[in-house]
Amino acid sequence: MPIQVIKNQSLKAFNTFGVNEIADSFVEVSNVEELKQALDLGFDHRLILGGGSNVLFAKRFEGLVIRNRILGIRKLEHAENQVVVEVGAGENWHEFVRWCLSSGFGGLENLSLIPGTVGAAPIQNIGAYGVEQDQLFISLEALDLQSGELKTFEKTDCQFDYRHSVFKGTLKGRYCITLVRYRLTTKGHKLNLSYGAVSETLERAGIGDPTIEEVSDAVISIRQSKLPDPAQIGNAGSFFKNPIVPNDLYDQLQRNYSSIPGYKISEDNVKIPAGWLIETCGWKGYRSNGVGIYERHALVLVNHGGGSGSELRALAEKIIESVKGRFGITLIPEVNII
Ligand code: FAD
Ligand code: EPU
Repeated sequence: MPIQVIKNQSLKAFNTFGVNEIADSFVEVSNVEELKQALDLGFDHRLILGGGSNVLFAKRFEGLVIRNRILGIRKLEHAENQVVVEVGAGENWHEFVRWCLSSGFGGLENLSLIPGTVGAAPIQNIGAYGVEQDQLFISLEALDLQSGELKTFEKTDCQFDYRHSVFKGTLKGRYCITLVRYRLTTKGHKLNLSYGAVSETLERAGIGDPTIEEVSDAVISIRQSKLPDPAQIGNAGSFFKNPIVPNDLYDQLQRNYSSIPGYKISEDNVKIPAGWLIETCGWKGYRSNGVGIYERHALVLVNHGGGSGSELRALAEKIIESVKGRFGITLIPEVNII
């Protein structure tokens, strides 16, 4: 089937901030052949889009948006306690996690309810509640947008780190991920209950020996209590990464702010919750016209309706300036500003 290119497409329904920017051209692809057809259209400026839950369109997109709709889930290998699953990049992440749970496959339960597609999961190495996707990741296939060739990336090729991979670094914009492979457990699941809120939620529910579904339910209830549902209030989750600072800077801050939280992540470095820095600067619940900061979580920028991408970007810049002025820390956006 020839692909259908739409001119002057509103992106409002295709980003979870719900901002109404326009793409010059827009196409959906459901397999690699269609993706190659989209490349043959000859645009210089292209963007691969999944669920639009980690992008901020701050202006008109003068080029071609390619929305990835490559679907399909299949089991590749089934050993005694393990299974390898191959997933199309356009599959919805949470639906995939649910499919794993209902198949009895463990490993991804802590990553329940993260919006977006499977293909975007390796891009920033999604993580939540003590687990990051690279802990289950095996490999991915991606189409080189310059040469049109498919390439396999093994885990070591991806340079996964906290909210980072090679696809956010040196290979930014170069590849379209078409499918991802994960290794999951079928028995003897290794539950990760290291995150305080998860173990406390299970304890409160009187669950001593949880199943993977029960861990998923706990994660879902924590997320629903903290984060706004994009169907109700436009947002892209955490807008900034949590900054990682050297011990001496953290110690110095602690002398002035005794309640500053920090998590030791290595011998030399501490991760500070950006939400605390932003709240301490007084931004929590701030609102100006249609845009603001969520009243229950200071790390979440929101579009109450009618806010524009450029207003959200301007607000993010003000927050960066204010946190820098008070703490000397430069916040780095997690969201991809386009
Ligand atoms: P998009 O927003 O469509 O794209 C994100 C980036 O990836 C863009 O640069 C895009 O060009 C690129 N991209 C997308 N698909 C492909 C592909 N197939 N090939 C190449 N490049 C591609 N993230 C977490 O890590 N942890 C969380 O707990 C979390 N919670 C969230 C909660 C809420 C309410 C929201 C709205 C977001 C949250 N996020 C979280 C952020 C977001 O859900 C993830 O980053 C998700 O993986 C983005 O998927 P997407 O398909 O929407 O990507
Ligand atoms: N905090 C405040 N005020 C706030 C919010 C948070 O002071 O308004 C402080 C508190 O000290 C709290 C701490 O920040 O204990 C951590 O808050 P939370 O548990 O909500 O986690 P987070 O660090 O804000 C990170 C991820 C989330 C992920 C959760 C759970 C980043 C940038 N964000 O948030 O990921 O779901 O942990 O693991 O690492 C996302 O990436 O979009 C995202 C939502």
